[in-house]
Amino acid sequence: MKGTIVRCLCEMIEKAHGADTWARIMETAGHRTGKLAITMDIVDVDDALVMGLVQATCTVLGITAGQAANAFGEYWSCTFGPANYPKIYERFHSAREMLLGMDQVHIEVTSSVPNARPPRFDYAWSDPRTLNVSYKSNRGMVEIFAGLARGVGKHFNEPLDVTVRDAGSVQIVFAA
Ligand code: HEM
Repeated sequence: MKGTIVRCLCEMIEKAHGADTWARIMETAGHRTGKLAITMDIVDVDDALVMGLVQATCTVLGITAGQAANAFGEYWSCTFGPANYPKIYERFHSAREMLLGMDQVHIEVTSSVPNARPPRFDYAWSDPRTLNVSYKSNRGMVEIFAGLARGVGKHFNEPLDVTVRDAGSVQIVFAA
């Protein structure tokens, strides 16, 4: 997986809890501090490494996987994404537009990355406010998907009701 995910996690933890806490998370995940040169977009990072760092974040901060997914999703969608991908954010003017555009965005941003396997999303409306998203990835990060979707709602200041139905589907209810 692209190292951009790790770069975002690192930036979020360092800002909120300081560099020492990030160092403790790295150690808890079994990495020697400073050893990992994984914080660049271009570097492909092993999926197990990402999951190890997320688990270590939960251990060190004493939070659940769901809380970590929501914190990460909010930071990515509201802070890291707009700062690092401004051209992509310019395209979207509402949570609806952005969430519906995400399948295409993931294809685009990973098209030049060898061996990238971006998550894929299918969309189906069950009524004008209720969007059912099929999440297709073998990484099993549906909770992170939900956290990111909630973050998109916060970014556009729109209340969204996001529910994980099962490992491959998420329901998003828009306010209007
Ligand atoms: C500007 C916005 C975004 C960009 C540029 C972006 C880009 C990326 C990239 C590069 C990866 C790693 C993919 C790989 O290495 O194969 C990734 C992973 C992921 N993205 Fe995004 N993303 C964005 C927003 C979102 C949003 C809003 C959601 C959900 C609503 C989302 C859901 C995910 C998930 C769940 C993963 C984890 C990988 C997986 O499940 O297979 N992303 N994204």
